[in-house]
Amino acid sequence: MTTKKRISVEINGRSVEREVEPRMLLVHFLREELSLTGTHIGCETSHCGACTVDIDGSSVKSCTHLAVQCDGAEVLTVEGLADRGTLHAVQQGFYQEHGLQCGFCTPGMLVRAYRLLQENPDPTEDEIRTGMSGNLCRCTGYQNIVKAVRWAADTLKAQAAAPNASAAAAAAPAVTA
Ligand code: FES
Ligand code: FES
Repeated sequence: MTTKKRISVEINGRSVEREVEPRMLLVHFLREELSLTGTHIGCETSHCGACTVDIDGSSVKSCTHLAVQCDGAEVLTVEGLADRGTLHAVQQGFYQEHGLQCGFCTPGMLVRAYRLLQENPDPTEDEIRTGMSGNLCRCTGYQNIVKAVRWAADTLKAQAAAPNASAAAAAAPAVTA
């Protein structure tokens, strides 16, 4: 019999405590224990990035990270990007620039793009391509993903310059889910 371990994690700003098996992967914890199914499972070998989440300010592939490793950590998933119904700039960017087709890679792309723009708020096209290179997309050819991240960078810059008068924020589609 496996001894479960109690973990305490802050997920998308909410404190969560659970008993988990030491072998439970973070992606399974998110999807099966917390019903946060926005984090997708693709390759399960750290290659595709569909499972990307943010842990304490770093992008992490949750298919190769144990839930118990998150004890005491702050985790952000795609469900935590929007703020009270207003999409984050990276989400708006993918919407505006058609940065997705089937959408399978999109949650991981969004969470990675969010962190990339924290690491480098004004990336060149090459820097976007390098920064997003751990996330694979089988549909888009990446061109519109790069444009989407650039759109988000410009929007975040505009929001920082005029936080209450951002036309982009005003044009943001509402989240209905
Ligand atoms: Fe984790 Fe592919 S499912 S990197
Ligand atoms: Fe289909 Fe990226 S939009 S895998």
